Amino acid sequence: MCGIVGFTGTKQAAPILLDGLSKLEYRGYDSAGIAVRDGEKETEIIKEKGKLKVLQEMTDYGKAVKGCCGIGHTRWATHGEPSAVNAHPHATDDQNVIAVHNGIIENYQELREKLMKHGYTFKSQTDTEVAVKLIDYYYKKYSGLPVESIARAMVRIRGSYALCIMFKDYPGEIYCARKDSPMIIGIADGGAYVASDVPAILKYTRNVYYIGNMEIAQLKDGAVKFFTIDSEEIQKPLTEIKWDAESAEKGGFAHFMIKEIHEQPKVIRDTINSVVKDGIVHFDSVSLTDEEMQNIEQVYIVACGSAYHVGMALQYVIENLTTLQVRVELASEFRYRKMTLNKKSLVVVISQSGETADTLAALREAKDQGIKTLGIVNVVGSSIAREADNVFYTLAGPEISVATTKAYSCQLVAGYLLAMQFAKARNEIDEEKYQALLAEIYSIPEKIEKILEDDKERLQWYSAKLINVGDAFFIGRGIDYAIGMEGSLKLKEISYIHSEAYAAGELKHGPISLIEEGTIVISVLTQDLLTEKTVSNMVEVKSRGAKLMAVTTVGNYFLEDTAEFTCYVPKINPLFAGSLSVIPLQLLSYYVSIGKGFDVDKPRNLAKSVTVE
Ligand code: F6R
Repeated sequence: MCGIVGFTGTKQAAPILLDGLSKLEYRGYDSAGIAVRDGEKETEIIKEKGKLKVLQEMTDYGKAVKGCCGIGHTRWATHGEPSAVNAHPHATDDQNVIAVHNGIIENYQELREKLMKHGYTFKSQTDTEVAVKLIDYYYKKYSGLPVESIARAMVRIRGSYALCIMFKDYPGEIYCARKDSPMIIGIADGGAYVASDVPAILKYTRNVYYIGNMEIAQLKDGAVKFFTIDSEEIQKPLTEIKWDAESAEKGGFAHFMIKEIHEQPKVIRDTINSVVKDGIVHFDSVSLTDEEMQNIEQVYIVACGSAYHVGMALQYVIENLTTLQVRVELASEFRYRKMTLNKKSLVVVISQSGETADTLAALREAKDQGIKTLGIVNVVGSSIAREADNVFYTLAGPEISVATTKAYSCQLVAGYLLAMQFAKARNEIDEEKYQALLAEIYSIPEKIEKILEDDKERLQWYSAKLINVGDAFFIGRGIDYAIGMEGSLKLKEISYIHSEAYAAGELKHGPISLIEEGTIVISVLTQDLLTEKTVSNMVEVKSRGAKLMAVTTVGNYFLEDTAEFTCYVPKINPLFAGSLSVIPLQLLSYYVSIGKGFDVDKPRNLAKSVTVE
């Protein structure tokens, strides 16, 4: 996945493709490639690992590659490490079908096996190559018609995709197919453009068509035709894009952070679907066997910042579902602690970037002691992904805002699935409970969508009250405490308000002396068994002048007697409630930061990837 550009018309395609891809560079990528065809000649495919500059230099900024029809791609690795072989475009050996793809094909392994039985071989580790060869298979087996062959493949493919395809027998034409992955098609000056994101083609046209889910398009002679999956032609309205270049980069959102907050339902779904098939979690890609999970006695979760907060929440989940002992450690502490690790343990390191120096050092320390390691990592091919014995990839996609939101949420969900898998492998939950938990995990994306729909405006309104405060405290118990820690970090790092999180029961052991008239205290209350206890802590601080906000589960309306502002999240198994209660806290911090006029995506003194100690 990452960026797609395509062009067919009367101008040279390569410079347009490279220019379009450069407009998508901000999204992050690890390799890039183009395929360009000059009339009926053989298509030239040029792809390389690394920055677009490499490709620009290889092709003299596109001038060395002749042809008026082409497709281009910047890749953010999901299946297979960043490399020239895994980079797009992918092609069949005879170049009958060539394509670029964004999205994730969930059943690619099953399709790959089917195609191998029909004599296909694979050069790359990608799911894209499987899609290319599946289309080729149907093309050769049946009609030799592009739209029909693509439609047949779409019926077989599970997952999400934006595909741009060129067929050897149809020079000058580009075919597109889409499901749950964005793609727009524009026309101008006798040419047709396609892109995954508006900025790539904004320079050439503002008139675009939105290709719908499960639809196919044909770009030819400066015009576009659309088809249903039954190959019936359909008409679409042309829409004018009114965004300027800057807001186009953010998909119409004002900042990357809010865009990424809204992406959470989708990326969580992707992460779940990457391991759950037909109601069962398959850990083959993670390579942890049931036997290994049965033999483990102790789990250490090691990470930094928000990833550490994920570990704090997971500790409660794993201990609730299994008899495993869990310790959560800050990587910067763990690496220097002279600690003899239990030989029968698993060290789980969590990292979005996969490059955080302290987390990497902690991983190496565990390996030096001969302990099995598992990385929960977002960046394929990163140092942690390469060095950990096993890897569970989160599919958050590139995260641009420095303050993490969507990667954090995917890490949480990856951890839930890990906890469930441990419980199942060790016979600590029965099938009924396993299925019930899985259904709850499946409900998370939809429930987040509901929070985003319902609570945004109220939170924006409440955020105005926080703009001038000097201090804030987050309190909660159990998982709510872990979520409070993340809420507190979000608030302090982007709004520069001093903020601390406390286990609610700790208040009376010191911090309560900081409470005075007007101090903001934000409580998280989603754990039914602990709610009453936290309410009594809220009452204690209220009587000392604190102003209270509560994030709680629908139904706990009695909290309105105590809190001046209450935000409700849908009901869910309390073990997974953190995935919901963190959303209002992310939104609140975002609104406070923009309300104060700060650069929310690039908070002062912070870097996205902390590769130094
Ligand atoms: C906070 C944040 C950081 C990271 C931390 C670890 O919003 O983004 O606290 O969570 O620097 O980074 P990764 O996950 O890349 O190891």
